[in-house]
Amino acid sequence: MKDKPEDETNLGFGDIFTDHMFLMDYRAEEGWLNPRIEAYGPLSIDPAAMGLHYGQEIFEGLKAYAGSEGGIYLFRPKDNFERMNQSASRMCMPQLDVDFSMKCLKALILQDKDWIPKSHGASLYIRPTMVATEPHLGVRPSKEYVFYIILGPVGAYYKEGLDPVGIYVEDRFSRAALGGTGDAKVAGNYAASLLAAEQAKKKGFTQVLWLDASEHKYVEEVGTMNMFFMIGDELITAPLTGSILPGITRKSVIQLATDWGYNVSERLLSIYDVVEAAESGVLKEAFGTGTAAVISPVGRINFKNRDYVVGGGTMGELSKRLYDELIGLQYGDIPDTRGWVERIDV
Ligand code: COI
Repeated sequence: MKDKPEDETNLGFGDIFTDHMFLMDYRAEEGWLNPRIEAYGPLSIDPAAMGLHYGQEIFEGLKAYAGSEGGIYLFRPKDNFERMNQSASRMCMPQLDVDFSMKCLKALILQDKDWIPKSHGASLYIRPTMVATEPHLGVRPSKEYVFYIILGPVGAYYKEGLDPVGIYVEDRFSRAALGGTGDAKVAGNYAASLLAAEQAKKKGFTQVLWLDASEHKYVEEVGTMNMFFMIGDELITAPLTGSILPGITRKSVIQLATDWGYNVSERLLSIYDVVEAAESGVLKEAFGTGTAAVISPVGRINFKNRDYVVGGGTMGELSKRLYDELIGLQYGDIPDTRGWVERIDV
């Protein structure tokens, strides 16, 4: 057994893992086999495993929360496994049985339940992953895979927490083109984003805002988050045309804001309209949404070497309301009227 972190205010993101992991193997002729929970540890993979050479690797990200009055809460967890199946289809990988995957996930969480942080703002991050394992160097879909789930206690994804982040608008590199894999949760999408992100970091920006790959004009997503812009009284996010990830927090935000009477549009939004709105003072808020990031306010946008301040550089009213609502639902403090929350009794 490993030592658990004592300071829940300083967990960071993605460095600490629990005692156990779930694993299951796949062979083309037999289907999924040998589901098991084992001690967390290295995988043994053949150096010729196809996933290491041709990138058949998909993953998901969700969280388990310790409810204030006991119980463990999951937020729309089936949606993650359904999205994983969409990613698997795109990458010629096998489908998971969603109900069985949910059962396995719950068993793993219960096994390592003492690792779930108790404080709000901290949670247990869940990373389901599927990788091609067949040792073969010809280019075709693998006939063998491993599916595994690892867990780890996490705090805020960005060191800024709820303080607004600065984003750099990338108008040279592209993350994903129409017809590519941008709407699948595929490792290669993240690899493709690294060089631009490193260059933006050197300039002092936390993240890169990607534009569409053909015209470099329409805002898409921030690699780790979907993006929303409040211009006048319209809340705008990019449509799911195939090059951005269909975020679960994204669709929850669209639903909440619509239910609260906001005018929400999923439409193409030119970066030139965003910066013009910032200059004329009608860009009231900008924020990213994601499982890891929850709601991450954006206070500064840099486009073509010019800085544009958003909403006075502070967290906007809607961003704060959405953050409070999501966190309230996720920790079981706000009653769930939409069937989004799944409770595990302990
Ligand atoms: C998540 O929000 O869970 C993600 O998977 C994004 C990321 C940390 C890569």
